[in-house]
Amino acid sequence: MSNPTTTKTYFAPGRVNLIGEHLDYNGGLVLPAALTIGITATYTTRPDNKIILHSATHPLQKEIDLADPIIFDPKNDWTNYPLGVINQLIKENHFVGGCEIVYSSNLPEGSGLSSSAAIEVLTAYLLLKQTEQNISLSWLAGLCKQVENEFVGMQCGIMDQFAIARGKAENAILLNCTNLDYSYIPFELNNYRLLILNSKKPRSLIHSKYNERKSESDEALRILQATSSIQNLCEASFPQLDLILDETIKKRARHVITESLRVKEAVKALRFNDLSTFGRLMNASHTSMKNDYEITGLEMDTLAEEAQKLKGCLGARMTGGGFGGCAIALVHEDAISEFNHILTFKYHAATGLNCEIYVSEIGNGVEEKL
Ligand code: GLA
Repeated sequence: MSNPTTTKTYFAPGRVNLIGEHLDYNGGLVLPAALTIGITATYTTRPDNKIILHSATHPLQKEIDLADPIIFDPKNDWTNYPLGVINQLIKENHFVGGCEIVYSSNLPEGSGLSSSAAIEVLTAYLLLKQTEQNISLSWLAGLCKQVENEFVGMQCGIMDQFAIARGKAENAILLNCTNLDYSYIPFELNNYRLLILNSKKPRSLIHSKYNERKSESDEALRILQATSSIQNLCEASFPQLDLILDETIKKRARHVITESLRVKEAVKALRFNDLSTFGRLMNASHTSMKNDYEITGLEMDTLAEEAQKLKGCLGARMTGGGFGGCAIALVHEDAISEFNHILTFKYHAATGLNCEIYVSEIGNGVEEKL
């Protein structure tokens, strides 16, 4: 007698990074948080050796036979992410059985809230859950990062996958990216709200520009390692900047050094419930991403800088990889309506684009929906 078909539902959130941008692959501290919006997947077993991937939001669906090799193909579009995960699990000798998975997302499209990491973590979690009880979520985050690095070709760090795997409602995660030590920091907003400002700018350059920043950081580290024993760029200090002659590489290193200090101050501010200081650090972080790391551009600068000027806003900054995507802002709840109105108007006047603004809630990491 064949096994009865079973159906289960799982959810993985998107994420924002509160502060500490482009520090994960530089071995630093980052402060992301999982959202309550994300991707839901319905998993149904199949009696054969096939996996069928569908999406409620994309027309493309993909069928594979588990006996065939799995390779990256741009034509496979969004399915490359789950395919990469299936490939990696099989490579590492985990059991993957025939099934049908239907994904549906309420994350805004291409918004930089990490839908790719969400679908990876979700797929790995739901496939493993069928046969394994004690899944280490930190290990699972590392596996999904490896899929991005080796299968998809994006040289990202581990922040997104980790936040999505280990998120906790109403808490930010202070993550040390060298050893994956982490702690939860309560994100208490009193009468303020964390707004997500979606630029709606297509992020076409994200992969190539992101990888370029990663290699510029690697180059800065290589230069400093000629005279010091630092293991990663986040350990560098201001005087060492003088050893870097190339102005571009020096600016990249300066962002990494100043942003690392800002994360530590931001955590201190949160622990003292000092949102004004936290907001000032957000603003400084944006300026550093604009001038030193050069990952913002007209759209993100307009959003963050216009937001910073508005009544009730304690701070605003781009979040995530950059070159489009979303900014975040801390805004008093009584000022939100006017803030939205003015920012939407000014952003459209400067860029011709209509931004979208959402009030975000901090949620849990990947889980089964019972
Ligand atoms: C993207 C990457 C992360 C991280 C951020 C920038 O989201 O996936 O690993 O580097 O950019 O902080």
